[in-house]
Amino acid sequence: MIRLDNVTKSYRSGKVKIRALDNVSLEIKQGEFVLLNGPSGSGKTTFLNIAGCLTRVTSGRLFLEDQEISHLPDHFLSAIRREKFGFIFQQFNMIPGYTTWENVSIPLLPMGVSDKIRKKRAMNLLEELNLETRADFFANELSGGEQQRAAVARALINDPEVIMADEPLSNIDIKNAGMVIAILEKLKNKGKTIIISFHDSQPQIVKLIDRMVFFDSGKISSQTQLQ
Ligand SMILES: Nc1ncnc2c1ncn2[C@@H]1O[C@H](COP(=O)(O)OP(=O)(O)OP(=O)(O)O)[C@@H](O)[C@H]1O
Ligand SMILES: [Mg+2]
Repeated sequence: MIRLDNVTKSYRSGKVKIRALDNVSLEIKQGEFVLLNGPSGSGKTTFLNIAGCLTRVTSGRLFLEDQEISHLPDHFLSAIRREKFGFIFQQFNMIPGYTTWENVSIPLLPMGVSDKIRKKRAMNLLEELNLETRADFFANELSGGEQQRAAVARALINDPEVIMADEPLSNIDIKNAGMVIAILEKLKNKGKTIIISFHDSQPQIVKLIDRMVFFDSGKISSQTQLQ
């Protein structure tokens, strides 16, 4: 489904050049649930951003369904993102001037879906995440954990084939984490491809994982097949 072929991503900060990803090759199959693990700064977020076409490779190639997409123009990549991917960002990226349900339904805006249907779909997801009472709050009025669950709802509203989640449980308590994990399990059972990053091990989620990929200093240091 998604394949990175010898991908390097370098950043320059002043005189220092950082290889956030260093010659990484990895193939993720359709329907696979992959956990990215590794210490802070090891390249997990960078990997997700590249696999999800949010950032371009410095060198190497990115394939989606056997088609090379690394060099497609921005508008093609945005269309791929909109239609195929749902993102849960490490920093949530909620828009403060919008309410929770409006934030959740943002991915539907370019698709010309009516306000009524956008709100209905957003409310269904908010209920599933125990957030329906916060639907009309502005994003800046939500706690960290509430924003994180709203970010989960927003990632799922366009029914994406691939869900990419960057530390999706890092700000939430056990009960709400259980809710997010139940949603991930449902998505897995529907055959969705899921790529998720954590720097700690999360015992509740281990039963869902097909493969763990460990990063260290921008490289894949090892992999473990669990199922
Ligand atoms: N925009 C950027 N400019 C410069 N350096 C960057 C940029 N983004 C990431 N890096 C560097 O790339 C390396 C990998 O960062 P990345 O965010 O992928 O790590 P991570 O594994 O997700 O870490 P964490 O567990 O803390 O989220 C880090 O050393 C970071 O400082
Ligand atoms: Mg990260």
